[in-house]
Amino acid sequence: MSTNYSAHVAARRRTTEAALAAEGFDALVLSSGKPFTYYSDDQDAPFRTTPHFAHWLPLAGPDHLLCVTAGKRPKLVRVAPEDYWYEQAALGDPFWKSEFDLVEVGDAAKGWKSLSPGARTAYVGDHPEAAKAAGIAAAAINPPKLVARLDWARAYKSAYEIECQSLATQRAAKGHKAAKHAFESGASELEIHHLYLEATGCVDRELPYESIVALDEKGATLHYQSKRTQRDGRVLLIDIGAPWLGYGSDITRTWTTDAADPVFRELTRGLDAAQQRLCALAKPGIAYLDLHVAAHREIADLLHQLGILGVGGMDAVERGLTRPFFPHGVGHFLGIQVHDVGGRQAEPTGGTKAPPAQYPYLRTTRAVEEHQVFTIEPGVYFIPMLLREHRSGPNAALFDWKSIDRLTPFGGVRIEDNLVVTQDGHRNLTRPHI
Ligand code: GLY
Ligand code: MN
Repeated sequence: MSTNYSAHVAARRRTTEAALAAEGFDALVLSSGKPFTYYSDDQDAPFRTTPHFAHWLPLAGPDHLLCVTAGKRPKLVRVAPEDYWYEQAALGDPFWKSEFDLVEVGDAAKGWKSLSPGARTAYVGDHPEAAKAAGIAAAAINPPKLVARLDWARAYKSAYEIECQSLATQRAAKGHKAAKHAFESGASELEIHHLYLEATGCVDRELPYESIVALDEKGATLHYQSKRTQRDGRVLLIDIGAPWLGYGSDITRTWTTDAADPVFRELTRGLDAAQQRLCALAKPGIAYLDLHVAAHREIADLLHQLGILGVGGMDAVERGLTRPFFPHGVGHFLGIQVHDVGGRQAEPTGGTKAPPAQYPYLRTTRAVEEHQVFTIEPGVYFIPMLLREHRSGPNAALFDWKSIDRLTPFGGVRIEDNLVVTQDGHRNLTRPHI
């Protein structure tokens, strides 16, 4: 881990120094973030480190500063207040420490005072007022082109980051196995969620995103957030990840019991096989949009084979028949953020490569390249509000409405793995574990 980490910091220094030079700066201050206090309250939201800081090191907590100056070792200002309200653990000797010149201070103001930003210092973070008060010019605070260059670089994961992603996946896989077992024993959504946390050793606020634990018809709500207590579901759609040193996994599995409709069970098996064929396409050079269109074609064929649609293949896709069943993108970049940045970025300095109008939810339109990490997550759902307009539309006769109505109480199917792109293909980080 520490050899990979040194190379990771060296890569951060290289890409950051190049980005600074290209934008006319010679130093960059990053802050770990400030706490977010709810309006008219004294309670804070769970703290999340700003992603640009997290890209350098896994130091938790607000107000830390990192100063990267061309040609120098990065300076880390760690804010470690004396405090009897919250635990302030000693730093100890973490593997990342030797990469930085470390300064420890008792509060955020002293942290800023310990820096003396020059005229060509930029700031990236969520505390522009503090940066301004420290003397950083307004035009150097979150300059869009510099931020875009840093975001662009985040899509190419170092060996250290891939190791973190892999360990985040393995951690989640333990929880997914526990969740499957609990579901098969009749557990409720709430029980499954808690057993997942227990198996992964996480508390809720550490998860990379709010867990989706959906029994039966709730699987058709894409980001279903409730946790019901009723037991004995026939289908479980579970979309939940785990953290590792600031990186997160994002895995979905759909399990059925013998009590589920046989066609729905066939749909689950078929989508699982289709998802693996889609994963097999992931290699440098393919456009991410092509993976998305391939997913629509797979889904069209599956729905046709099961008699749910009267036509399959590109004929069904071009008529828009798969869209009500698969109303999200086939995947997204993954890393420090679950929907990691840069997926739609047109070039290093910014710009947006929008998806085609018929696929507005596709988050990634970039060409697939080595060292990217992303998800492949096709889904098929029975969502009444999306199917409604097709019941009387020009293609109404191409849908088997009797079958759709019988399958609607079972919700939907989604299968999601995390992939890293290699020189001539990809490595599936998830399948070996769940
Ligand atoms: N795991 C939820 C999503 O990708 O939107
Ligand atoms: Mn996802």
